[in-house]
Amino acid sequence: MNKIPVKVFADAQAAATQLASETADLIRANDDAGRPTVLGLATGASPILYYGELIRLHRGEGLSFTNVITFNLDEYVNLPPGHKESYWFFMHHHLFNHIDIQPENIHLPSGMIAETDIPAHCEAYEQAITSAGGIDLQILGIGRTGHIGFNEPGSPKDSRTRAVQLNEITREDAAPSFDGIEHVPTAAITMGCGTILAARRIVLMAWGPGKAPIVKKAVQGPVNNIVSASYLQEHPNAAFYLDQAAAANL
Ligand code: F6R
Repeated sequence: MNKIPVKVFADAQAAATQLASETADLIRANDDAGRPTVLGLATGASPILYYGELIRLHRGEGLSFTNVITFNLDEYVNLPPGHKESYWFFMHHHLFNHIDIQPENIHLPSGMIAETDIPAHCEAYEQAITSAGGIDLQILGIGRTGHIGFNEPGSPKDSRTRAVQLNEITREDAAPSFDGIEHVPTAAITMGCGTILAARRIVLMAWGPGKAPIVKKAVQGPVNNIVSASYLQEHPNAAFYLDQAAAANL
């Protein structure tokens, strides 16, 4: 019944450890071949344990990020990088400040671009991914709306990096960390579904019972634009890494 390969782990930590180990293998193989490794990264609660594991591998096992290039999925519009809820801040706090990545290899969309310059900014982001050689491994979470990145319901499969309006469910989910929904931005810049699907390997992480219904729709439901994550069924090398609770409805 599963239309995407699913790995169910004893808990989120076990999954994060496995994914970090796979990431380290990829980085080391590319290092040996003299190639950079291009990672597509996500924010939110789901990847925090994974980033912790990458830091542990860097500190404890000498994993180097010198030849790693990163592209984040998204950023809120009108939130400066120093804001504690900006994704720039999140990524530096949870990963970049603790590893040896070169600052010029870190890419996030900017939320502070003038509205008229956003299309050119998004086009440049796509170009930068292409110039880096495309994404080797894309990390994803899934929103309750089925979004990947901020590709809310209605996002076309071939969509590219662009500005989007945030769904109200997504804003409600963000409200506690912003101390109220009135402080949650209404727009974001996100990689498109097409940008994500161009990655050579994709792993979506989901933990906890709150994700079980949408995981079931994405993995077993029809492929459509109501659940953006369902597009992953058509990717040749995508997988869901779940804990027992997120997998409970499969
Ligand atoms: C984050 C992102 C989102 C989240 C999703 C799940 O960069 O693009 O798609 O991955 O909203 O969020 P969490 O992990 O907080 O449940």
